[in-house]
Amino acid sequence: MIFESHAHYDDEAFDFDRDQLLSSMKENGVETIVNVSASKKSLDRVNELMKNYSFIYGAFGLHPDEVGDMTDELLEKIRLFSRQEKAVAIGEIGLDYYWDKEHHSLQKKWFEAQAQLAREEKLPIIVHSREAAADTLDMVKGFRGGEIGGVIHCFSYTKEMAREYLNMGFYLGIGGVVTFKNARKLKEVVEYAPLSSLLLETDCPYLAPVPNRGKRNNSIYLKYVAQTIAEIKQISCEEVIEATRQNARKMFHIQ
Ligand code: NI
Repeated sequence: MIFESHAHYDDEAFDFDRDQLLSSMKENGVETIVNVSASKKSLDRVNELMKNYSFIYGAFGLHPDEVGDMTDELLEKIRLFSRQEKAVAIGEIGLDYYWDKEHHSLQKKWFEAQAQLAREEKLPIIVHSREAAADTLDMVKGFRGGEIGGVIHCFSYTKEMAREYLNMGFYLGIGGVVTFKNARKLKEVVEYAPLSSLLLETDCPYLAPVPNRGKRNNSIYLKYVAQTIAEIKQISCEEVIEATRQNARKMFHIQ
């Protein structure tokens, strides 16, 4: 069954049918979901989802677009949340120079501080990096991210950049983008990277795969992502689903 490694079911896009949708996951082949925090207010919502659904695990942290809200007190709240049994990662954290909402120095400060928290709490990190390839790699190497471990979520860089992260033991999060016709670079990355380093993720409600591109995304659509990876690697879809499930359980330390 499918392991969804990156979802945002706390998003208001799910307000009108959240419970109905989540209750249909099992019958549609989705076994486990990691719901990832992004904003300050999402921390409590993710915590609630994690408590209300047996198959939902939580990741806690502030997205680079949101670090203007970060304080030492909030970092301690993230620490306390992350100590719960079903908290499996710190994220999503990183650098975003595409939206460029916060000063780079502030993004870097809190990326490093949250990575340090992950190290102390022995949790992997979920890294968000957009249009910030060089700085992200510098920082991850700088704080010895390979010792912390984690996933580069929605991987969008080159094969050469993938090699750098794979060498440090990071996983690559692969989502709907790989099904897009113009995703040549990502298809190359998927072909190059070993199956043992890939995770399935939606980033829902965003980035729905073909044939639902442009619609609201959800974890059930991961079968299309798995199918595309299977075609690229010339293996069966079932093999992709089972391998990515094992990879995720290993990375998130889920028994
Ligand atoms: Ni996300």
